[in-house]
Amino acid sequence: MQHLEFESDVQRTAALLRERAGTAALPATAVVLGSGWGALAERVQDAIDVPYGDLPAFPPIGVGGHAGRLLIGRIGDAPVMVLCGRKHAYEAGDAAAMKGVIRTLAAAGVRTLVQTNAAGSLDVALPPGDVMLIADHLNLVQRSPLIGEVGNERFVDMVDAYDAALRSRAQAAAATLGRPLREGVYAWMLGPQFETPAEIRMLQRLGADAVGMSTVPETILARHAGLKVLALSLITNLGCGLADVGLSHHQTLSVAEQAGGRAVELLCAILAALHD
Ligand code: HPA
Repeated sequence: MQHLEFESDVQRTAALLRERAGTAALPATAVVLGSGWGALAERVQDAIDVPYGDLPAFPPIGVGGHAGRLLIGRIGDAPVMVLCGRKHAYEAGDAAAMKGVIRTLAAAGVRTLVQTNAAGSLDVALPPGDVMLIADHLNLVQRSPLIGEVGNERFVDMVDAYDAALRSRAQAAAATLGRPLREGVYAWMLGPQFETPAEIRMLQRLGADAVGMSTVPETILARHAGLKVLALSLITNLGCGLADVGLSHHQTLSVAEQAGGRAVELLCAILAALHD
């Protein structure tokens, strides 16, 4: 019964988006904006603005700095849906917090999910202000948003979860701006507390390049729903213990605000390249 209600919320939400957009052909690309990436919302032309609160399958959003609205429009020539705000697994301990969102995007015809986040760097050669293209992830939380799913599709192949062809298009777009992108491994930690210095040393030894509290559950949901994924991390700090400055969410947001403009320029170029 619960499953049926969920499915009908997803279908209703997708229908509502088509209705608001006044077309059955919604953009095939959706962008999720994390901390620091909010300025992309101002770049959406002819935007139709839908608050998450109007969308039955969408969760309420709880972190300062995230607005909770969906924009349907275009950036340059590229039609896009831009999602301002995500629900994090650390809010209620639910790795499936974004399930309704991702399923709605799939039901609405989205084929490509572009994710953005703020992350801590595990390498002094990847400093705050830089953007990292996620090539792979470590699900260290070892929770799955697919718990409770049935059928063989739940055994999702995670090789190439961050699509190689999309990554090379993103690399080409970055190169034209003269800003070659470092690719790396993103480690998901549940949070909301930051890591200890010992955890940061562990993550370095495990082969991670950046650490954050999001993105991985959405990637799993998206791959399960058949979407391709591209993901970018805006580095807002060095991991705990790697620098003298202490960490706080305020600091994440303030570094993100300073560096966000350049990151958004890059993202616009990448969206144009994905559309071509
Ligand atoms: N750790 C986890 N998440 C983060 C960090 C960090 O250092 N910076 C921004 N998000």
